[in-house]
Amino acid sequence: MTVDAVAVEAAAAALRASGLVIMPTETVYGLAAAAADARAVAAIYAAKGRPRFNPLIAHVPDLAAALRVARLPPAGIALAEAFWPGPLTLVAPAREDGGVCDLARAGLDTVAVRVPAHPAAQAVLRAYGAPVVAPSANRSGRPSPTRFADAVEETGEAAAAALDGGPCAVGLESTVVAVFDDAPPRLLRPGGVTRAALEAVTGRFAEAGAGDARRSPGSTTLHYAPDAPVRLGAASPRAGEAYLAFGPAPEGARAVWSLSPTGDLAEAAANLFAHLRAADRTRPSAIAVSPIPEHGLGEAINDRLRRAAGWVG
Ligand code: TXA
Ligand code: MG
Repeated sequence: MTVDAVAVEAAAAALRASGLVIMPTETVYGLAAAAADARAVAAIYAAKGRPRFNPLIAHVPDLAAALRVARLPPAGIALAEAFWPGPLTLVAPAREDGGVCDLARAGLDTVAVRVPAHPAAQAVLRAYGAPVVAPSANRSGRPSPTRFADAVEETGEAAAAALDGGPCAVGLESTVVAVFDDAPPRLLRPGGVTRAALEAVTGRFAEAGAGDARRSPGSTTLHYAPDAPVRLGAASPRAGEAYLAFGPAPEGARAVWSLSPTGDLAEAAANLFAHLRAADRTRPSAIAVSPIPEHGLGEAINDRLRRAAGWVG
């Protein structure tokens, strides 16, 4: 897609003026602020209704910029070289003068950093010239926006500028990996890069421990929830329910969406949040969801679905 240079400059100007910006990424739309600007970062927490103990991800245009924010160990650099730009976030020791304020890090001595692939995000980061924090642009607890209109509906009122980057190609947030100590990497949040692809670079990950969960509170609270209750592992819908199929949609049912008619997990990931929102708009008694295989991107899809259903946290 072509990037609108005027809109990019408006976004960078808004960041310089402590404003918030709706910024497309390849994963989900983000609500962006200057990472060094505590006042702007506080406005993100307020706009989302997000608990202040849940830290944000710093977005930078390339590995060189990431190295100015975080002390990446060799395993982190290997992962960065393999998957950046792309849907991978690394949590590593923060550099003191790294340009990410205390509030954005929720007071931790670590920092989450990622290099997004979306050309509009790249353009904003290069135009602004310093790290930008961007949580998903939904209000806290709601499904992440993967379409421009959904982002504007969620947090548009709080934004001084908004960039339309089209539908998000990945549709799930970045995979968050801990590389902040000498132990092997740990998966803090499954996401757009699969565990298997990551482990092919570094060898087997360690199990995330209780200390990791404390440090990554975003992985322990109720998230991604539509208004309607969500019923998982449903072979077919009951009367009054909306239905998200995986594979062909069942005949005759109404309010049915297929996450992927051919059973492709990448397509299902890209459709997940948009279809949850579409199903929710029909005001069903519940949203029933077909079983999704747990391999590959299925790990992240099922993680989001379990949280949407309130099974976690
Ligand atoms: O794909 C994405 O990552 C999107 C787009 C907009 O870039 N952003 C996103 O941000 O999903 P957010 O704020 O919704 O999720 C950030 C996750 C949370 O689970 C948070 O707990 C974790 O990253 N996190 C951030 N800093 C951390 C740290 N220092 N240690 C452990 N976890 C951290
Ligand atoms: Mg989020």
